[in-house]
Amino acid sequence: MTSVQMRSTYGETACRAKRATEIFVADVIKALEEMYLDDPGKFLDNSRPFHVVDLGAADGVNFVPILKEIIQFCRERNENLPLKVTLNDTPWNDFSLLFQTLNKSFGKIKNLFIYGIGKSFYEQLFANEDVDLFIAATSVHWLPDIPVPVDFNCHAPYKNVLESDKGKIWISSANQAWETFLLNRSKELRRGGRIVIWSPSYSEESDIRFNRHHLVDSSFIKKLKSALAAEKIEELLPKMMLPIFYRNEAQLVGHFKDSKLGLKLQSYKEFEIPEPFFEEYKKTHNAEIYISKWAKSYASPTMNYYKAKLIENGVSSVTAEKVLSDLYENRFLELKEDFIKWEISSIRHFSLTGKKEYESNMNGYK
Ligand SMILES: C[S@@+](CC[C@H](N)C(=O)[O-])C[C@H]1O[C@@H](n2cnc3c(N)ncnc32)[C@H](O)[C@@H]1O
Repeated sequence: MTSVQMRSTYGETACRAKRATEIFVADVIKALEEMYLDDPGKFLDNSRPFHVVDLGAADGVNFVPILKEIIQFCRERNENLPLKVTLNDTPWNDFSLLFQTLNKSFGKIKNLFIYGIGKSFYEQLFANEDVDLFIAATSVHWLPDIPVPVDFNCHAPYKNVLESDKGKIWISSANQAWETFLLNRSKELRRGGRIVIWSPSYSEESDIRFNRHHLVDSSFIKKLKSALAAEKIEELLPKMMLPIFYRNEAQLVGHFKDSKLGLKLQSYKEFEIPEPFFEEYKKTHNAEIYISKWAKSYASPTMNYYKAKLIENGVSSVTAEKVLSDLYENRFLELKEDFIKWEISSIRHFSLTGKKEYESNMNGYK
């Protein structure tokens, strides 16, 4: 089996729990309803398309139900409204798979135009005041880069690392990255436009859960190490740390108090999402299916990144694929007992909605 096959099956397994998707769709629809109340013209004027952007779209599977609802909302108010959708991810994302997913569901819909942009969302991606609605689902916890190397024993720095001096550098870089992200979106949004974001979050009460996640992540890193060692490239392990950071509420909402941002915080909430694979495992007790679903959901956001890092560090593309298929298809199965033992039964998320203020002088901000 090749890593390409692993990637193409991700959609079936990493699809969010139905309930979780419903929560997020409800937030998106609420943002649209408020926009409509503020300014129906955005939905009634056919001279320019209503522009929706998905930031960090991956394979698009989780965006499909959200986009269906957005289309329905818009077309119920104006059946001739042109809709423009832009899918964003990093250049190493599998855009071919992404467009296949979107075309399957939306290829035949009239007056709907779908584009892609392979560039980091920490850059300005659109001209000023071009976008009506941004969606960012489980992507903003990725930082632009590793702020400073730390002892690499799990995917993201957890509590013990964050309390160290290097942890403080991570916290300040994550803070800066968040500000850059929000400033760019604020420039790109039309006045009255919305950004709806959700991602895993961190909070003091969820320490125990994060410790469990930490234990699973650290087991995974041991397998990554052995997959690299099999190809005698173990020394690349430190380069494989993911630039992931879980922000807490204060870190997420702080910037909205800054008037130069031009974005007003409309809502913020945190909630636990039941982990769908564990729920299924509790019913079936089928450990093989449980672990293979986890393997695919780990592979989805990480495999292309790891492959790009290996190639960047001089590894051939054939060897990189070999290491990664060994990791996700063979070694991952050995983690079965750990995953069962540490029962990841829910994941804490935040969801926030920001509004581009009408009176914003954002475009003058340097
Ligand atoms: C966990 S996946 C989530 C995918 C999808 N939004 C969903 O809800 O299923 C995170 C995605 O964010 C992308 N990503 C990470 N950093 C990014 C950046 N700086 N710019 C654009 N996309 C990024 C990753 O490549 C990955 O595809």
